[in-house]
Amino acid sequence: MIYQKLFNFCTLVFWIAVLPQFANATDLNKGKQLFGDYCASCHNGNMKDKMIGPALYGVEERWKDYPGDLYKWIRNSVALAASGNEKALSMINYDASAMTAFENLEDSEIDDILAYVEQKGKFGCIEPPCEEAAVVVSGQAEEDPVSPYYGYTLLAFLLIAVALLGRYINSLNRLSQQNAGLVVSPEKSFLAVLFGPGVVKLLVFALVLVGGYSTVNNAIGLGRQQGYEPSQPVKFSHKTHAGENGIDCQYCHDGARRSKHSVIPASNTCINCHASIQKGSVDGTEELIKVYAASGFNPADNSYLPESMSDEDRATVYKKWLRGLYEEERKENESKVDKMIAEQLASVAGSYNKPIEWTRVHNLPDHVYFNHAQHVSVGKVKCETCHGEVSEMDVVKQHSPLSMGWCVNCHRQTEVQFKGGLNEGEGSPYAGSNNKANEYYSKDYGYYEKYHQEMKDKSRKGVTVEEVGGLECQKCHY
Ligand code: HEC
Ligand code: HEC
Ligand code: HEC
Ligand code: HEC
Ligand code: HEC
Ligand code: HEC
Repeated sequence: MIYQKLFNFCTLVFWIAVLPQFANATDLNKGKQLFGDYCASCHNGNMKDKMIGPALYGVEERWKDYPGDLYKWIRNSVALAASGNEKALSMINYDASAMTAFENLEDSEIDDILAYVEQKGKFGCIEPPCEEAAVVVSGQAEEDPVSPYYGYTLLAFLLIAVALLGRYINSLNRLSQQNAGLVVSPEKSFLAVLFGPGVVKLLVFALVLVGGYSTVNNAIGLGRQQGYEPSQPVKFSHKTHAGENGIDCQYCHDGARRSKHSVIPASNTCINCHASIQKGSVDGTEELIKVYAASGFNPADNSYLPESMSDEDRATVYKKWLRGLYEEERKENESKVDKMIAEQLASVAGSYNKPIEWTRVHNLPDHVYFNHAQHVSVGKVKCETCHGEVSEMDVVKQHSPLSMGWCVNCHRQTEVQFKGGLNEGEGSPYAGSNNKANEYYSKDYGYYEKYHQEMKDKSRKGVTVEEVGGLECQKCHY
C-alpha cells in the first residue's frame, strides 16, 4: 500500500535525522571516569602540566591535520608509529616508555575522554557553572550541553507524531479502500488500539529488556559501596592523627606490612599516647573516656584496672578522674560540670572492658582474596593509591570502587617492583648496584629469568602484574 510505504519512509527519515543527535552528545562524566581509570597514571589531570606523558590540553588541535589518527594513536601508539605515520613518529620518543595500548576503547569512549580533556584543560572543572561554557568537540560547537531530558522530550514528541501520522494514514487508507468499493471493517477506537495486543506485547518486551538490564547491573553492584562513610562509635579523626600530628599509618595499622589484613588497632595502642593526652582540644574528654572505658585504663594514675572490678567501681574511678580534671571549671559552675560528667559516665555505661566496635568501611565479598602485605610490602603500592587521602579525612570514606574491574585495571597497568628489597640475589640485574632487588622476586629468579634478562639488555622496561599472573582468576578467587 502506497501510504504504508510513505509512512515507513517518513519514519526512517526521522530516525536518520534524529539519531546522530544522540550519538554526538559526549558525556563529560564518563570521560572523566575513563580518564581516571586509564590515563591519569601517566597524564596530568590538570591537562596542562606534563607527567610521564605530555599535557593533553589542545591535543585535538595538534592532531587536526591527521584525521582519525588520534584514535589510532590512543588505541596503539607504537603500532601507529611503526606504520610510518609522521605525527606519531614525532611524538613516540617523547618518553622512553611507551604509552599503554587501549585496543578496546570505542570511538565514543575516546570522544568522551577528549571532550573531558578539553573541558578540564580550558575551564579546570566540569561541574555545573562550568558546564554552561561551550565546549568544542571534534570541530563541532555544542551550543548547549544536551540534557538527558532533551532526548526524552524529543522521543516522546516523535512517538506522538508517529501515532498521529499513523492514524491519519490509516484513515486515508480506509477512504481509498471505500472508494474502490471494498468492504471495510469498522474503525477501531484510539483506546482499542492503545490496549490492543500489539502495543501490549511491545510494552512487555520493553519491560523485560529494561528490567533485565537493571537487575544484572544492580546484581553486579550488590555490596559495592564506593563513598561509604559510616559514623563510628568514637569520633576518631585520621586528619588529627595521620594528618596534623603526622602519625605513620603503619604505627596503628601494622598488619598492612606483614599480613593479609591491615588490622584496626586495639585500644591499647591508643593508650600509648592518650595516657598523657587526656583532654582533646575539640571534644575534651567526651570521646577519650570511651577509649579508657574500653581498654580498662585508669588515666588518673596511669594503670590498668583489675579485670574483676565491677562496673559501679569503674564508674567511680572515672568520676573521680573527671572531677579532678575539671576542678577549676567546677568551682565556677558546679551544676553544669556535674551534669557534663554524669552525661559522659552515662555514655560509657555498659561498654566497660569491651573492645570498641568500629564499623567496617571496606568490605570485599567472601569469594575474593586480597592481601595487604602483597601490595604494601611486595608491590610497594602506597595506602593512598587505594584508600585516597585518608590523612585529610575526619571520617574514613571508601575511596575506590573495590570492583573486579578496579583490581584488574591496576594489574594491567602497574609494573612489578623488582627493585627495592633486601637481597641482591645471584644473577639479579641489580646485583652490585645501589638498587637492591626485591627479596620476594630474588627467590624466584629461575622463574622470572627471561624477564630479568630482557630488562638487563634493555629490550624490556618493566613487567606488569598481569605478566606475572595477576589476572588469573584463582589468584583472587577462592
Ligand atoms: C603508561 C603511561 C601512559 C598511559 C596510561 C597513557 N599515556 Fe598517553 N602518552 C604517554 C606517553 C609516554 C606519551 C608520549 C609519547 C611516547 O613517548 O610514547 C603519550 C602521548 C599521548 C598522546 C599524544 C599527545 C600529543 O600531544 O600529541 C595522546 C593523545 C595520549 N597520550 C592520550 C592518552 C589517553 C587518552 C590515555 C588514556 C586512555 C593515555 N594517553 C594513557 C603515556 C601514557
Ligand atoms: C592513631 C592510629 C591510626 C593511624 C595513625 C591511622 N589509622 Fe587508619 N584507622 C584507625 C582506626 C582506629 C580505624 C577505625 C575507625 C575508623 O574507621 O575511623 C581506622 C580505619 C582505617 C581505614 C578504614 C578501615 C575499614 O573499616 O575499612 C582505613 C582505610 C585506614 N584506617 C587507613 C589509614 C591510612 C591510609 C593511614 C595513614 C595515612 C591511617 N589509617 C592511619 C587508626 C589509625
Ligand atoms: C592495592 C590496594 C590497597 C592498598 C595499597 C592498601 N589497601 Fe587497605 N584495603 C584494600 C582493600 C581492597 C581492602 C578491603 C579488604 C577486605 O575487605 O578484605 C582494604 C582494607 C583495609 C582496612 C580494613 C581492615 C582490613 O585489613 O580489611 C584497613 C585498616 C586498611 N585497608 C588500611 C590500609 C593501610 C594503612 C594501607 C597502607 C599501609 C593500605 N590499607 C594499603 C586495598 C588496599
Ligand atoms: C601517637 C600518638 C597517638 C595515638 C597512638 C593515638 N592518638 Fe588520639 N590523639 C593524639 C593527638 C596528638 C591528638 C590531638 C589532641 C588535641 O586535640 O590536642 C589526639 C586526639 C584524639 C581525639 C580527639 C580528642 C578531641 O576531643 O579533640 C580522639 C577521640 C582520639 N585522639 C582518639 C584516639 C584513638 C581511638 C586512638 C587509638 C585508635 C588514638 N587516638 C591513638 C595522639 C594519638
Ligand atoms: C593500585 C594498584 C593495584 C590495585 C588497585 C590492586 N592491585 Fe593487586 N597487585 C598490585 C601489584 C603492584 C601487585 C604485584 C605485587 C607483587 O609484586 O607480587 C599485585 C598483586 C596481586 C596479587 C598477587 C598476584 C600474583 O601473581 O602473585 C593478588 C592476588 C592481587 N594483587 C589481588 C588484588 C585484588 C583482589 C585487588 C582488588 C580488590 C587488587 N589486587 C587491586 C597492584 C594493585
Ligand atoms: C585481580 C583480582 C581478580 C581477578 C584476577 C579476577 N577477579 Fe573476579 N572479582 C574480583 C573482585 C574484587 C570481585 C568483587 C567485585 C564486587 O564486589 O563488585 C570479583 C567478582 C567476580 C564475580 C562476581 C560477579 C561480580 O562482578 O561481582 C565473578 C563471577 C568473577 N569475579 C569471576 C572471575 C573470573 C572468571 C576471573 C578470571 C577470568 C576473575 N574473576 C578474575 C577480583 C578478581
